[in-house]
Amino acid sequence: MNQTEHIKIIKEYVKEKLSMDSSGHDYWHIERVVNNAQKILPFETANNLKVIVSAWLHDIGDYKLNNGKDKTEEIVFPLLISLEFSEDFAEEIIQIISEVSYKGGHNSTPSSLEAKIVQDADRLDAMGAVGIARAFAYGGSKGRELYNPEESPNEYIDMDSYKKNTSCTINHFYEKLLKLKDLMNTETAKKIALERHNYMINFLEEFHKEVL
Ligand code: ADP
Ligand code: NI
Repeated sequence: MNQTEHIKIIKEYVKEKLSMDSSGHDYWHIERVVNNAQKILPFETANNLKVIVSAWLHDIGDYKLNNGKDKTEEIVFPLLISLEFSEDFAEEIIQIISEVSYKGGHNSTPSSLEAKIVQDADRLDAMGAVGIARAFAYGGSKGRELYNPEESPNEYIDMDSYKKNTSCTINHFYEKLLKLKDLMNTETAKKIALERHNYMINFLEEFHKEVL
């Protein structure tokens, strides 16, 4: 089997496993992350195969999709071995995936260029128009309010005036999404992130105008 066939099988596997997800990790999120990684790769000297395989598999074992338990190793290792990848390769992919997650990584910078690229690609999908849509979809899936004037900033960029640890979705922008542009690893992702960041600022400005 050649690389293209391997990737095709991985893609089909991911599509089947994530087709029913409503936690923000549906199949199309994965496909967008792969596409984001493809945009970054031409400007970096990374191992393309490792980046693409990790991007396809980065959420497959996520605890949110696996009853609260991370199953990355359990799922990814046998899958890659069955496709005749080496054990070393499978272990590297598992390592890359473990360093990608915002929560798992606790904001620490990944140790490999491959993980940095997948992390950027994943974070870009939480920004811009898609990021806005995902945030409200996620909030909706948890039954949360869009906005609550008692706990949200009344000016779009007043980062400190929201109450911490409150649940309305607009606060997620201040807690996480507006911070992402400064967390990008690669130059390509920094450029795309800036555009998406500005789009979110425009959205928040308009939102706060409308709710005044
Ligand atoms: P990942 O596992 O892909 O790094 P998360 O699971 O943290 O990311 O988030 C998946 C999607 O759900 C993202 O678009 C993120 O912004 C959104 N999301 C996560 N937590 C919240 C929240 N508390 N409110 C609104 N959206 C959220
Ligand atoms: Ni993801």
